[in-house]
Amino acid sequence: MSRKAEPFRIKMVESISMISREERIKALQEAGYNPFSLKSKDVYIDLLTDSGTGAMSDHQWAALMLGDEAYAGSKSFFKIKDAVQDIFGYKYVLPTHQGRGAEQVLFPHLIKHKGQYVLGNMHFDTTMAWIELNGAIPVNLVIDEAFDTETPHPFKGNFDLNKLESFIEEKGPENIAFIIITVTCNSAGGQPVSMENVREVRRIADKYGIVVNFDSARFAENAYFIKKREAGYENKRIKEIVGEMYAMGDCFTMSAKKDAIVNMGGLIGIKSDRGLYQAASSTCVPMEGFVTYGGLSGRDMEALAVGLQEGLDVDYLESRIGQVEYLGEELRKRGIPIQWPVGGHAVFVDAGKFLPHIPPEQFPAQALTNELYIESGVRAVEVGSLLLGRDPETGEQKKAGVDFMRLTIPRRVYTDRHMDVVVDALVKIWERRDQVKGLEFTYEPKVLRHFLCRLKPID
Ligand code: F0G
Repeated sequence: MSRKAEPFRIKMVESISMISREERIKALQEAGYNPFSLKSKDVYIDLLTDSGTGAMSDHQWAALMLGDEAYAGSKSFFKIKDAVQDIFGYKYVLPTHQGRGAEQVLFPHLIKHKGQYVLGNMHFDTTMAWIELNGAIPVNLVIDEAFDTETPHPFKGNFDLNKLESFIEEKGPENIAFIIITVTCNSAGGQPVSMENVREVRRIADKYGIVVNFDSARFAENAYFIKKREAGYENKRIKEIVGEMYAMGDCFTMSAKKDAIVNMGGLIGIKSDRGLYQAASSTCVPMEGFVTYGGLSGRDMEALAVGLQEGLDVDYLESRIGQVEYLGEELRKRGIPIQWPVGGHAVFVDAGKFLPHIPPEQFPAQALTNELYIESGVRAVEVGSLLLGRDPETGEQKKAGVDFMRLTIPRRVYTDRHMDVVVDALVKIWERRDQVKGLEFTYEPKVLRHFLCRLKPID
């Protein structure tokens, strides 16, 4: 495979080192076999998330110095507003401290009454939590191919349009609060949604008079996949593709910690609905802060305004997604089961296939994540049955489509040599995979349990 070299050189470095195997075993035990409780100083290569972990550019660092810390009417806010208008074509913007801040402010105004449904390709976990906290019911309607890790499909993040329309028909459009298109679809493996699918979702939404919101954390990576995989887009610029996509939405929530390559920040964008903007503004003030800062300092907003544009650079996207592909291909060559093709921000290892002797209720992906840490000091994250949790009504463990271990690649941070360390470690575990043990709880919190739970291996 011929890949271009990175379109950047490194100006500043941060030291990392690996503690001994004995120390890693002890650290994991103390963390209750939950990598969220590890100290980052005990982690060698941190693939827990691509959220807020990217390396800012010299332009972003320089922009920090221009931050206008005025409480109201900050110059830095207007730079964000201009960037959002320029890229997405949306008139109204509210900054928030991160993506879930945007969800908390906007969702109460889109959910009209308790028991309404919010239809998505596949909702992210905080998104699901904010839907539920507002009394609505999240529903995932992604295509079945998303759960079939071996069969290639260029857009595994697509909505199943038949399921979407039948659901609306069955429940009645008045019982649908809104539709969320998550780009890329994180929980299905960072998988993209095609322009054609977005267009069809818009057509269905128009037919029934339903609002469309984009969950936009990885909007630029999604546009890159459209450019590479969808006929008619190969010669379009990333920005044009983003513009075309967002013309089909009414509003967006964004965690800017991903494609806008900042360490903290989020946004709400509203295309033209002044009433919705005013309602959201009234919620923003007490929850996130005044409408021209929303929980961000002026300098944060400067870095974000620059990052929104930088994230659209096609050479950067090619190198970033190329690195994820490199890791995926090296694993596949060695027979490790992964979601294929790989998504934009991570390689998702199919832990159910890797550890078939561990049933979902003993959390195979968590077991594999722990084993990877012990083997190499690499921290990954479980995206499967442990994250999914229990049915709030029956208390039964929900069934994950696939138990994934996510190897999430921060932007502009690690080299391919770091990726090789991950490959070597997983190959070693693959050779002794039948010795890996399942897990059981010693402490299980009721809400979002995966962050804080404690576990132990089952003998
Ligand atoms: N939506 C999506 C699709 C996300 O991936 C995330 C965060 C959020 C919303 C919430 O944004 O963290 O800024 O509040 N995803 C991170 C991850 C945490 O690791 O995938 P946030």
